[in-house]
Amino acid sequence: MTYTVQYLDEIDSTNTYCKKLAREGAPGGTVIIAAHQTGGRGRLGRRFCSPRGTGLYASVLLRPEWDTETLQLVTACAAAAAARAVDSLCGVHTQIKWVNDLFLGGRKLCGILTEAGFTPAGGIDYVVVGIGINLRDTRGAFPEELHAIVTSIEEETGCILTPEQMAKALLCELDKALSALPDRGFLEEYRERSVLLGKDVTVQAGGAVYIARAVEIDDRAGLVVERPDGSRQTLTSGEVSVRL
Ligand code: BTN
Repeated sequence: MTYTVQYLDEIDSTNTYCKKLAREGAPGGTVIIAAHQTGGRGRLGRRFCSPRGTGLYASVLLRPEWDTETLQLVTACAAAAAARAVDSLCGVHTQIKWVNDLFLGGRKLCGILTEAGFTPAGGIDYVVVGIGINLRDTRGAFPEELHAIVTSIEEETGCILTPEQMAKALLCELDKALSALPDRGFLEEYRERSVLLGKDVTVQAGGAVYIARAVEIDDRAGLVVERPDGSRQTLTSGEVSVRL
């Protein structure tokens, strides 16, 4: 895919802006990168802290011809691509916390938010894959309550990267991964990188909170958990939060 990258100094959210461009007809391959987001968004309506000089905040517009089942795999596929990009630049082994977070040293390094728009007939009009990666020291820039759960490439590896370097590696890996998405080959790597598999997790789904063991990631990138009574449930990313 040919990418056209637009660098912005500041925006509320690169995903919000990219979706606006998508609705106005921008082509697939449009990439928005901001030095700073004033309203960075995460999954489940959460904020994504995006201070200036700290990270790569990027949104990639796609116009894919996928069915909706393939669409469900995009976030997991982008997570595998982002993990590969970090590893290739810094010689580490990045892990993935289902479904959309990258982890290094037990803390979150990167989050991914995928949003889609549909045609009146129900087909996919556009997909925006938003990726935020903490590159530089987060301690000075992030609120103290996040220090225990958030980290950066610099803190974990000593590797100092510019947003441009990270974006180049990321877009290259994303392109390869997304063109191979329909054959689902990335799932094996996604499972191998999983932080959750084999661990007891706290699941929050539809008002219920329970503890279960993460036992499998299925071919739709759903997380299969097993409760102490042996019953199994497959979680899809929609409204579910899983904590270690
Ligand atoms: C999450 O942690 O739940 C996902 C975070 C996704 C953050 C990225 S940063 C670029 C893009 N713009 C946003 O507002 N969010 C995504």
